[in-house]
Order: sequence, then C-alpha cells, then structure tokens
Amino acid sequence: MIQKSVLFVCLGNICRSPLAEAALRAEAVAQGLALTIASAGTSALHAGEPADPRALAEARNHGIDLSYHRARQVTEADFTRFGNIFAMDQQNLRDLHEMAPRRPLARISLLLDHVPGRHGTAVVDPWYGDADDFATAWNDVAEAARYIVAQLAR
Ligand code: 4NP
Repeated sequence: MIQKSVLFVCLGNICRSPLAEAALRAEAVAQGLALTIASAGTSALHAGEPADPRALAEARNHGIDLSYHRARQVTEADFTRFGNIFAMDQQNLRDLHEMAPRRPLARISLLLDHVPGRHGTAVVDPWYGDADDFATAWNDVAEAARYIVAQLAR
C-alpha cells in the first residue's frame, strides 16, 4: 500500500469526487506534498464517462481542467491500494463498508469528518441541482482538502 494516497468516493464519480480529487491535487501541489490521488464511484452508472459538464465548469472557475477525468467504479483493489478513502455522504460510506474486504488497509471515513465543525455532514449531491450547488460542493471539498493536506503532511 502507498501510505500517502487518497481515494475520493461518491455515487457516480462524475460530480463530487472528481471535484474533490482536483481540489486536493491543487492543494497538495501548493503545499509541496507528494500524494497519490484518485476518485471512483460506488456505482458503475456512469463508468467510462467524463465528468458532468457542470462539474467541468465549476473546476474551470478555479483554473482547473477536469477534461482528463473518466468515471470508474470502486474496485476491491482500491481498499488495499489506498491509505485513505473519503466518502462524500453517509450512503457512500455505508456502501463502501459493504464493498470492503474483511481487512481493508485503507482508512475509510466521511470526508467532512475531517473539517472542524462539519462532523457527520455530507458533501450534498449536486446532481439534481444547479451551478450554485456545484459551487457549494466545490467549497466543501476545497475546505476539506486543506485539512487533509495538513493531516497527511505530518
Ligand atoms: P456524484 O453525483 O455521485 O457526485 O457523481 C451523481 C451522479 C449521478 C447520479 C447521481 C449523483 N445519478 O443518479 O446518475
């Protein structure tokens, strides 16, 4: 297992987790921390597809080109390849625990549990929302990225 590695997980891997991946990559580069960062979905609903156009637009608002992204489903290997797996919401967390092998090496947790004052809250699914909801999701994952880099830099 690569110790300093992070996998972000949402349902479709086209909205929240690709944004989280991009936000953490930007923060890690800014802070000079070497991290392996990826994202995946609990479902295969959108496997092989690019990120949602609204997520692409939100990333672009922050100078990030997300066009490289292709959605994929979580695999069993992810639970041993990644040191840390962060779920966007409680359903993602439950699904991850169900999919996990008996002894996952990865620490699996809710993303916003790592943000002071946000314990137990979700990065709300913006799929049925509008650009504002994507901006809210970005703010959440970008804030979490700062705490994750601080934690993993120790
Ligand atoms: P994500 O958003 O889990 O943040 O990628 C969603 C993407 C697709 C669907 C729901 C949420 N869907 O129902 O297809």
